[in-house]
Amino acid sequence: MIIAANLKTNLTRQETDKYLEDLEEYLNKTKSTQEVLVFPAMTSLNHHSGKVIVGVQNAYPTKNGAFTGEIGLDQLNEFGVKTILIGHSERRHVLGETQESLVNKFNFYKDLGFKIVYCVGEPLEKREAGKEAMMRYISTQYEGIDTTYENLIIAYEPVWAIGTGLTPTVEDIQTIHSDLKEKSLAPLLYGGSVKVSNAKEVLALENVDGILVGGAALNVKDFSDMVSFADDL
Ligand code: PGA
Repeated sequence: MIIAANLKTNLTRQETDKYLEDLEEYLNKTKSTQEVLVFPAMTSLNHHSGKVIVGVQNAYPTKNGAFTGEIGLDQLNEFGVKTILIGHSERRHVLGETQESLVNKFNFYKDLGFKIVYCVGEPLEKREAGKEAMMRYISTQYEGIDTTYENLIIAYEPVWAIGTGLTPTVEDIQTIHSDLKEKSLAPLLYGGSVKVSNAKEVLALENVDGILVGGAALNVKDFSDMVSFADDL
């Protein structure tokens, strides 16, 4: 299973170092066999060795250059980062990234062999428009994306479930994941208000290959517990 933490705009570099140290200690102690990914804030990137794969929440599709406020390949190489989150709903809907710009980013980092966690998911009004309209909308987020890329992981995250405490029913997750597996055989994570109290049942679902956790991953003990649920399956 793939258990991923998106730390978003939380934790300082010092706090992130401690977080990773505690997480590594836990993984070593339990001899966990899960693939554990952590996406810290950019200023918290640091040299890291251990079981945890540290990725970046965003980067511009460039080696370097004049892109104020962005980082590129040179900055990622400094810390040996080879994993990137692309298409997160906050990048799409808050920061205004278009499908076209996401495809450029995807192709740039794909050509470099990066592990890419590519996020898709519908806003509430698309969900309320019915299953067909919703799946049509999600399909547009696959446009231009090489769904056969060997280092691709997809995360299905309904926008209305992110950070809200709301989650689809397990039946819904199962149905949508089965449909999405027809679009790509890449590992498929579920994300959106996953927490200790619901992670176990989500992880047990067919076609769920892991979870992408935001708020509830900020507590390293809770995140470690979610890793242990996957170990117990
Ligand atoms: P959440 O965020 O777990 O806080 O809902 C998930 C995500 O945005 O990846």
